[in-house]
Amino acid sequence: MSENGSEHAPSETGEERIAVSADSSQFQVAARHPRRVEKSAFVLFLVSVAAFAAFGATYVLGASDMVLGVLLAVGMLGFGVALASWGKYLMPRGPFEEYRAPMRTTEEQKKLLVSDFASRGKVAIERRGFLAKVMGVAGAVFGVVALFPLIRSLGPKPGKTLDTTPWKKGSYLTDINGRRLTVADVNVGGFVTCFPEDDIGGAMSQTVLLHPQTTDIVTRVGRETWAPQGYIAFSKVCTHAGCPVGLYEQATEQLLCPCHQSLFDIYSGCEPVFGPAPRPLPQLPLYIDSKGYLRAQAPYNEPVGPGFWTRGGEL
Ligand code: FES
Repeated sequence: MSENGSEHAPSETGEERIAVSADSSQFQVAARHPRRVEKSAFVLFLVSVAAFAAFGATYVLGASDMVLGVLLAVGMLGFGVALASWGKYLMPRGPFEEYRAPMRTTEEQKKLLVSDFASRGKVAIERRGFLAKVMGVAGAVFGVVALFPLIRSLGPKPGKTLDTTPWKKGSYLTDINGRRLTVADVNVGGFVTCFPEDDIGGAMSQTVLLHPQTTDIVTRVGRETWAPQGYIAFSKVCTHAGCPVGLYEQATEQLLCPCHQSLFDIYSGCEPVFGPAPRPLPQLPLYIDSKGYLRAQAPYNEPVGPGFWTRGGEL
């Protein structure tokens, strides 16, 4: 018997096992006064029983949430503390270790395996050589065929859809309900998300229409007519990772992308002035027709959204 009361007993296979008896130190409880802990746990369990029962009764009687909450808390607290005390102080403190036989392969077994494979295994495979060859062919064909669904799962080729949007010359600016927008629909300081009529809700054609002032806005040379009477529109697809640039800070005349806080300055053609966006939001050239409808002079003249595949090295 060892110092802690456990015995080293031989197993049926002759291996030595450690047997833990009721007298072993591992089997003793951690509490110095087990009776006291026992009583405390007992009382706490009784408290939780009373609290749970009271919870049930008061629930039926329609008691307030506060009363129900207090009773439930008392019940669960009592139950939890009693259970934890029982487990921590009144259970054998261990540790218990199970004997595990060594599983190491001996040098002799390794040599035997090698010689067995070299003799019988090789012969067995070579005896049916044609099967091994046809199996190789089947594996190779499967490997090639397995690529088909993989390639197909990449979806259809994007073609030119990454370069263009449904916006075209003469497109009406419409709201999410398909209603054509007029100059009366956006007050000074206003902000509306709009789409072309044939792509309402389209992820790549979503556009923000702003009206920061009542006179023409020129953001760049060559864009003198793009923002008549202060109506100005930009792609809503962030050039960083494609989130919708959904916030307009009227005080600073900036658009904010909430994903990574890129800020775009409206008056400089939505140049990014803060954050990770690598390039400006494309501007949609606008005009106002004779009936006051806001329309596109032309499509976007560059791809919208994060265009890293055509602008290698910019990110
Ligand atoms: S997606 Fe707009 S800042 Fe990242």
